[in-house]
Amino acid sequence: MNFSLHVRALLCGFLLAGGAAWAAEPATPAQAAAPGHAGIASASNYATDAGFAVLAKGGNAFDAAVAVAAALSVVEPESSGIGGGFMATLHLAKGGRNVFIDARETAPMAVNSKDYLNPDGTPNRDTALKGPLSAGIPGEPAGLVLLAERYGKLPLAVSLAPAIKLAKEGFKPAPRLLRSIAREQKNLERWPASVAKFLPGGKVPAAGEIWRDPEQARTLELLAKDGNAGFYQGEVANKLVAAVRAAGGNWTLADLGNYRAKERTPISVDYRGYRIVTAPPPSSGGVAIAEMLNILRGYDLTKMDPATRAHYEIEAMRRAYRDHNDYLGDPDFVQMPLAMLLSPYYADGLRQSILKDRATPSDMLPHESVHEPGQHTTHFSIIDKDGNMVGITSTVNYILGSTFVAKGTGVLLNDEMDDFALVPDQPNVYGLLGSKANAPKGGKRMLSSMSPTIVIGKDRSAVIGSPGGSTIITQVFEGIMHFIDGQGAQQIVADKRYHHQFLPDVVYVEDGVFDAATSARLKAMGYTLKPREPWGFMNVVTWNHRGNQLDAASDPRHHDGLGKVE
Ligand code: GLY
Repeated sequence: MNFSLHVRALLCGFLLAGGAAWAAEPATPAQAAAPGHAGIASASNYATDAGFAVLAKGGNAFDAAVAVAAALSVVEPESSGIGGGFMATLHLAKGGRNVFIDARETAPMAVNSKDYLNPDGTPNRDTALKGPLSAGIPGEPAGLVLLAERYGKLPLAVSLAPAIKLAKEGFKPAPRLLRSIAREQKNLERWPASVAKFLPGGKVPAAGEIWRDPEQARTLELLAKDGNAGFYQGEVANKLVAAVRAAGGNWTLADLGNYRAKERTPISVDYRGYRIVTAPPPSSGGVAIAEMLNILRGYDLTKMDPATRAHYEIEAMRRAYRDHNDYLGDPDFVQMPLAMLLSPYYADGLRQSILKDRATPSDMLPHESVHEPGQHTTHFSIIDKDGNMVGITSTVNYILGSTFVAKGTGVLLNDEMDDFALVPDQPNVYGLLGSKANAPKGGKRMLSSMSPTIVIGKDRSAVIGSPGGSTIITQVFEGIMHFIDGQGAQQIVADKRYHHQFLPDVVYVEDGVFDAATSARLKAMGYTLKPREPWGFMNVVTWNHRGNQLDAASDPRHHDGLGKVE
């Protein structure tokens, strides 16, 4: 342990003795009246409509969430699916309780770091990102079962019915899916079941062609009929294990049979009169968001010019990302100094290290390592007529996950193993070192950036989230700030973005986020601004409690999403 970590560990012990803010979920500030209608925003019109179909059958927001997630598995497989995992933040209107569901994938028991090394000891990016060794044990099916059984009003089979219908009767694939297939064609061609699903007749399907997925329909039917046993045992489990092992992977029936989705206490932080309820580990998102808000509560951002405000926000991002890289992992395996990271006193100390008018070079802040998670994921937000709220961020990791479909199941497996620091002390694909807290181990969950977030205020509430790998956290942070500044869903999803993640020490900027004068001032303070193509796919629902107005909006950077209020 280096000196700075030692000091931080001592501080942690001190704060632990003083009591952690994370231990229990405090009561929500206000119990608002019910909106009387519902809002859903997702990355696909088919998925949003599947959610409304289930609401029309008498379901609540959580039944609708099952329907939306399962539909996305069929129509947006490049981003998420039943071969992947999700994280969900729930607000229960009755009683005001907040809940977090962790349906993150786990490492198989036989995981071996050597499988992710080339003979010369360098990281093997192929086994980490493609094929069965890159796949964690899927969590999404168990998460859907838990959501339906504990929080839904309808049988699982009713909520899965729209997805089964889409898979059986077909849908028109969005151009984004077809582009993803074209991009990954060479990898898909390595496995016959992947060709059968994504390259029928050996070709990328044509735009406008109806796409059917009968094998995934059957797998969803078995899940609908038998719950967890329909996926993690019996026919589907046997086929998954056989396919993985035949292609060089190491899953066992026990890995599948032992998988459990878990409820965890969400992270809650109060900021400018709102309660922000967000994702705890094994996501790094909530800890980082809470740390940023705790740092920024020491400033009145509303009175600052744009350059000064951006300066303080970037410095908060820098410090929060430094910490998530060093400390976080699966809470079932790793002792994390959460009491320290979430403490206002710790944030006070970090604030002291921010200069009024200068960037802090990341190299000047003590740190151990950095891990960069994947880029391709999906998020949807729902508020129902009774005021139940749910945000789910779901993923198979990179575009089309591992590109490996398990024969006879229609299930595209994730490549979530790359979200572990797979090879301790070896740089990852970005030339950066991974942290020990996130080293792989059988049964352990890999660290995520997924940050489904609910913001609850006296007069207004919102469900906010986005895909985008390591940028998820700053996108959600900026969405929270914009909501608290008074913006509604349409504007929040459209706002231009910027991002700093400690290393590399640059501020990524979307065209138009800063005007010329603000950019010039930030550069003069020592920031390197790096233009980047637009990122993220935010889906947000906002609720104005006075007048009970809902707004649902999907990111205008994409044309296939749909936010709808009914
Ligand atoms: N695979 C992306 C994430 O979990 O952050």
